[in-house]
Amino acid sequence: MTEASIRSIAVVGAGIMGRGIALASARAGLKTSVIEPNAGAIQSARAELDKVLDRSREKGEIDEAAERATRERLSWSGAYDVANGADLVIEAVPESMAIKAEVYKNIAPRLTPTSVIATNTSSLSITELAATSDRPARFVGMHFFNPVHRMKLVELVRGLETSDEALAVAERAARAMGKETVVVRESPGFVTSRINVLIGNEAFAMLESGVASARDIDKALKLGLNHPMGPFELVDLVGLDTRLSILEYLHRTLGDRFRPSPLLIQYVKAGRLGRKVGRGVYEYPS
Ligand SMILES: NC(=O)c1ccc[n+]([C@@H]2O[C@H](COP(=O)([O-])OP(=O)(O)OC[C@H]3O[C@@H](n4cnc5c(N)ncnc54)[C@H](O)[C@@H]3O)[C@@H](O)[C@H]2O)c1
Repeated sequence: MTEASIRSIAVVGAGIMGRGIALASARAGLKTSVIEPNAGAIQSARAELDKVLDRSREKGEIDEAAERATRERLSWSGAYDVANGADLVIEAVPESMAIKAEVYKNIAPRLTPTSVIATNTSSLSITELAATSDRPARFVGMHFFNPVHRMKLVELVRGLETSDEALAVAERAARAMGKETVVVRESPGFVTSRINVLIGNEAFAMLESGVASARDIDKALKLGLNHPMGPFELVDLVGLDTRLSILEYLHRTLGDRFRPSPLLIQYVKAGRLGRKVGRGVYEYPS
């Protein structure tokens, strides 16, 4: 693949992250195919992207022609054949080794020998995920942040066998989407998740022991430490189930300081998974 040749991207999973990545890719002028087995998720992703595009046009960031062209570059399907020949696959399915491995197996027959697979995992081992694919050298981590259209960073994560070429493809794609990149050597939680989940877990521990209310803990971190969002606002956006899976993985790999807070576990058991279901630490009436 040459410098100019990333033309098409397949995004697998149209949840919180996949839909944002798909929009960033289509806006970057790349033909973007989204694979998502859940028809409801496709419907809600399309409705959400419509709103983002409408707002961008209203604000004068794009004109009508650019909006139409962006929509035309996006295709949605439950079937893998839309990924045929994609230069880059960005996988954004749930944080589970087994689900992700299944995706790599299903997508492999659709790819060319030079296609690169990137995973948006927040914490899983790139080396281990790569080993479940048919192309460990052309496999890399591309860790986007939520909401994708606003967050500037992509952490590029090198597994043991990630080639310079695969890293370069991921970097070019990220830059085309208007993102800044940092390169991180494979390590559980990379840089950002590893620090962020500790802050979030400590916030739950403080809430549980009655140190302060959720609102005041959020306010303290925003106004006292200059965090743009409080830890509870952030976990509601990320999804409490996603956060718990990351903590469980870091607990297994990095030790006891990552043991998930019992209160976080209770919230997940209660189905309080965050904004996506209308309630997490806070309530979000529709
Ligand atoms: N939520 C965040 O803030 C955030 C931030 C960075 C990275 N991540 C990572 O991104 C990945 C996705 O997270 P999310 O929050 O978007 O999850 P999500 O649950 O919102 O979305 C996952 C989507 O994948 C779909 N899916 C499930 N199995 C599939 C399959 N076999 N093929 C195609 N699609 C399938 C689901 O239907 C769902 O729509 C995870 O690895 C997560 O750790 C999440």
